[in-house]
Amino acid sequence: MLLIAVPAAGMETAHAQASSGCPWVGSSAPIEQRVDDVLSRMTQDEKLAMLQGTADPAKLQFTSAVYSGIVAAIPRLCIPQLNLVDGPAGTGSSLTGVTQLPDPTALAASWDPRLANSYGQVIGAEDRAKGANVALGPSMDVVRDPRAGRAFEELGEDPYLTSQLAAPEIQGVQSQGVIAQAKHLGVYNQETFRSTRLDNAIVDERTMQEIYLPAFEAAVTKGDVGSIMCSYNYINDVQACDNTYLLTQVLKGQFGFPGFVTADWYAMDASVAAANAGLDMQMPDSCFFGPRLKQAVSAGSVSTARLDDMVRRILRAEFRFGLLDRPATGSPAAVVTTPQHAALARTVAENGTVLLKNTRNLLPLAAATTHSIAVIGAAAGAGVVGSGGGSAHVIAPSIVTPYEGIAARAGNGVHVGFDDGRDRGRAASLAARSDVAIVFVAVHEKESQDLANISLAESDNNLIEQVAAANPNTVVVLNTGSAVTMPWLHAVQGVFAAWYPGQQYGDAIAALLFGDTNPSGKLPVTFPTSLEQVPAHTAQQFPGQWGKAEYSEGLNVGYRWYDAKNLTPLFPFGYGLSYTSFSLHNLVIHPASSPDGDVFVDVDVTNTGSRSGTDVAQLYLSHPAKDGEPPRSLQGFQKVRLDPGQTTAVRFVLAPRAFSHWDTAQHQWLASAGDYTISVGDSSRDLPLSGSVLRSATTATSSSTPPPPANAPTGGDNLVDSALNVLTCPLDVVLPGPVNGVLFGVIGIPEGAQAQQPPSSPPSGLG
Ligand code: BGC
Repeated sequence: MLLIAVPAAGMETAHAQASSGCPWVGSSAPIEQRVDDVLSRMTQDEKLAMLQGTADPAKLQFTSAVYSGIVAAIPRLCIPQLNLVDGPAGTGSSLTGVTQLPDPTALAASWDPRLANSYGQVIGAEDRAKGANVALGPSMDVVRDPRAGRAFEELGEDPYLTSQLAAPEIQGVQSQGVIAQAKHLGVYNQETFRSTRLDNAIVDERTMQEIYLPAFEAAVTKGDVGSIMCSYNYINDVQACDNTYLLTQVLKGQFGFPGFVTADWYAMDASVAAANAGLDMQMPDSCFFGPRLKQAVSAGSVSTARLDDMVRRILRAEFRFGLLDRPATGSPAAVVTTPQHAALARTVAENGTVLLKNTRNLLPLAAATTHSIAVIGAAAGAGVVGSGGGSAHVIAPSIVTPYEGIAARAGNGVHVGFDDGRDRGRAASLAARSDVAIVFVAVHEKESQDLANISLAESDNNLIEQVAAANPNTVVVLNTGSAVTMPWLHAVQGVFAAWYPGQQYGDAIAALLFGDTNPSGKLPVTFPTSLEQVPAHTAQQFPGQWGKAEYSEGLNVGYRWYDAKNLTPLFPFGYGLSYTSFSLHNLVIHPASSPDGDVFVDVDVTNTGSRSGTDVAQLYLSHPAKDGEPPRSLQGFQKVRLDPGQTTAVRFVLAPRAFSHWDTAQHQWLASAGDYTISVGDSSRDLPLSGSVLRSATTATSSSTPPPPANAPTGGDNLVDSALNVLTCPLDVVLPGPVNGVLFGVIGIPEGAQAQQPPSSPPSGLG
């Protein structure tokens, strides 16, 4: 994240200077007409100025009042300055006075599209009140491997779950008059070799279409997203930001995206090729566009029609979100967090924390038997981790630590002791003197660095073992961005996966431990038994070797892999316990009346326990064998809250697209004729109900998107343009990747083997 000083003029708005010279301001004419009007009066230099950030690449500006990127205003035309702010977990860019929300993985674990919408609204409202008009999020990259440094920023390992949450989140952000910029398109799954040619996903068309692209389709077709960010990595040897297939054929063609594409910070490696491939805006500087693009337009290597299209896409979004019509308000210095936003942070933390183990119903803590609690671990006190690191980091005004939250909830009659766990003997002795021991441990994930493995620190594993040996009532709370192994699992009674839970962490975990809130989170990622079990377990796959990361697992990402290989993970996708119990019954499948119709699936869910609680009914579909699909894929879920004894009916609607696979011969979605199995339950490995439905005919469920013709330019500039790039973009070329990378992202080395790097934002946990 490059921090850019806000120029004094930046807070002025073009609107303030609006005059009768800008008839499109406040006009009720259709947007396309207003865009035409502006375009017809623009000089070529004004057009070019809209396509680039204002940072000077020769000066890495680390200053105070900041956004992550700025596009200059054009006051003559009443076009306002664009202020782009991070990120997916709340208002970032090192701004303060904001709400530190739980990370997006926690949101994903809530399996709650309505909550995703509220989460987006908070982000949009705070961004806007900070004077920003583009929100750099959500992150929607499918978590291919739990070592991915940015896994915490994403919405889990399943394209359907990600899509169902990202679309309402985008709507929430955009409801506040802020343009969401969904990211990172595409197949962006690792930090190692970041932004170099070594970061090159070798992936087949079908896997891209079925696993890595659907969330972007949902962002466009369901979320109506205004903007998309293309990613650092290469895909099949072509950089994502000059990838014609990705940007023009799929995003703008197949998905019908009318908005603009921005390059991730310093991601570009080409000028002419990027413009022609469909990139619309460079960030945070202008060395690949600017004069280079001007020259290319004069030389005819980029057409004036394409130049106008780039500008049109940006203007279209600006008009749609009213940026030309309203005076810009908000300022980076404003305090924008509110009690309502803090309450939402708590709700997400409560809904997104997953109860993984609860032996002998130790939890919820019973008042009658809990007179003393040992709270152990730095992560429960001063080392609390509310937010992941890098551009998604959000600075909390303050964090309620687990110790504070538990002590406040426990009240006077219960003794709550704290030990930071550095002296394990001392911590074990506190545990031995207490009725219950709760150990908090964390793994710090951050952008620009993958994890070397999925183990907790050895000292944390040892701490848990020693505490568990001292107290049979030990509960572990994990703060991790993704899956970790648990060698001590057999020895403890309770485990919560709490992710990075934001500023209200302590209150949320206390409510769950004491049963004020009944846990309802469900895993959005599979927890393997060991690193050897993960789908991309070879070095050729992750992080890749010799300039190729082979996506040889293909469609078998996440739970699909474990199902296909008959592997039993530690905890499966979709899994999560409650303090009550549920039963699912009465599966009824209503076949469609024609191959183009919807299939309806009804089930009843009953709360069979003695507490109110919430379950997530999940529907998985199995294709006829000839389709060559993984054994099961999620195609529906419904979250239901039930009182004890209560039953409710839930209905899933399966459109023909749900039955489809990407046909690589015809380059389109096809729903085959044949028998499909429908399984319903409340985890990917607990599916008590199943039935089948027959599709009588094979039908196409999309138009065709052929790959680029064999002789088409494959991305990257030609030799002359490449030479010019080196002359005009030396810094970008020499230092690909953003300045918050490893000097600065040339080669991201997995954690552990890594030299000290400059901090991009305050370290996680400092609030
Ligand atoms: C990240 C983006 C982020 C941008 C601006 C890059 O490092 O990959 O996700 O929005 O910086 O801070």
